[in-house]
Amino acid sequence: MREPMELSRRRLGLLVGGAALAPLLPARPAFAAPTLLPTGMTWQLLWSPSASADGMRAWETLEDDRADSHPAGAPHIFPEGNNFRFNMHTVDRDTSTDRQRHEVTGNRTSSGYLRWLQGELWRVTYSMYIPSTLKATTTFTHIFQTKMPGSGTAPITVTSLRRVDGRQTIEHKIFEPNILVGRTDLEPLHNKWIDIDYEIKIGDGSSGAVRWVVRNGATTVVDATRTGVDTFLGDRVRPKWGIYRSLGDTSGSLQNCHLLLTNLKSYKAVPGNGGGATRYEAENATISQGVVESNHAGYSGTGFVNGDNVAGSYVEWTVSGSAGAATLRIRYANGTTTARPATITVNGATVAADQAFNGTGAWTTWATATVPVTLGSGSNTVRITANTAGGNPNLDYIEVAQ
Ligand code: GCU
Ligand code: CA
Repeated sequence: MREPMELSRRRLGLLVGGAALAPLLPARPAFAAPTLLPTGMTWQLLWSPSASADGMRAWETLEDDRADSHPAGAPHIFPEGNNFRFNMHTVDRDTSTDRQRHEVTGNRTSSGYLRWLQGELWRVTYSMYIPSTLKATTTFTHIFQTKMPGSGTAPITVTSLRRVDGRQTIEHKIFEPNILVGRTDLEPLHNKWIDIDYEIKIGDGSSGAVRWVVRNGATTVVDATRTGVDTFLGDRVRPKWGIYRSLGDTSGSLQNCHLLLTNLKSYKAVPGNGGGATRYEAENATISQGVVESNHAGYSGTGFVNGDNVAGSYVEWTVSGSAGAATLRIRYANGTTTARPATITVNGATVAADQAFNGTGAWTTWATATVPVTLGSGSNTVRITANTAGGNPNLDYIEVAQ
């Protein structure tokens, strides 16, 4: 069996032996594994690229036919409407010609790329469309990996399309020492959008953990957790998406195919804020008349929004919720002695016509305003618009608690 061998995970220069396949277990009753998020922590949304607006700037690095094997097929990775599309042709070759690779790496934001570090807990969610032309193979077909940057190490975790006893499956593994996290039949998931919710506690030795959830519409088909595993090699961890597959397949499954991704989001676990709340940074929101800055300490994430000092400048967030009452918390700083009143709308309806945002004493002194709101199910927009010529206060984030 061929695995995507590079050097051993500890950079010993040894080739990693093909590990034995864990057998496909008989169907087990589905049970919901708990989130890895500890009590008192919350998810901070730090990356939510849009294929149409951000394009390939969403990624830290891009490996689109890095061997230049098929220029006529370029680009192999590109935004298509709101989706990121990966095209794989049977003629495409990686630098090692026994395999094919078109992949993207990392989470780039307007203020740099995210660094997933040892000891941290991260979550990525995304929707994925696997057409029936992208089949499971007898040798490796990886569609998601976590890796240490650089080419000297094996993957840390991998999501793969693998033939097991003749069946097409999708699985997630700790790559070494080949620990199966979860696996389910692939064919029922072909030709439709499925949703992935992935959590990784980055820990060396046995202090790491992963949770892999696969949803097919309203049905959770996998919700599997492995704790006590090694999810750190060195430096940091980066997610990777795309098609990376061996040509060694013996099931006749290699054909021209593609993969679509959309609605990608990365969250970091951060100390709690009352429990059950989700934080949305202003620097990741839509800004009308304003800029992201980081010159006043004490902000969360990578910066805050300094809106233009004009009436009508605004920041708009897209937040998810369920239908019903919620609490909106707004973190802001106003280093002047004059209030900066604003209009707050939710889905276009005004919930506060004159939110004061009084002076906080300094631009480095951050305060939180709390506003009761009603949310709809799914995506909601929250907009804070300056009422006066002074503009908005500096805005750090909003949190939505439900
Ligand atoms: C200063 C401050 C900015 C702030 C601005 C304002 O320039 O550094 O962060 O946004 O005042 O008055 O709005
Ligand atoms: Ca300002």
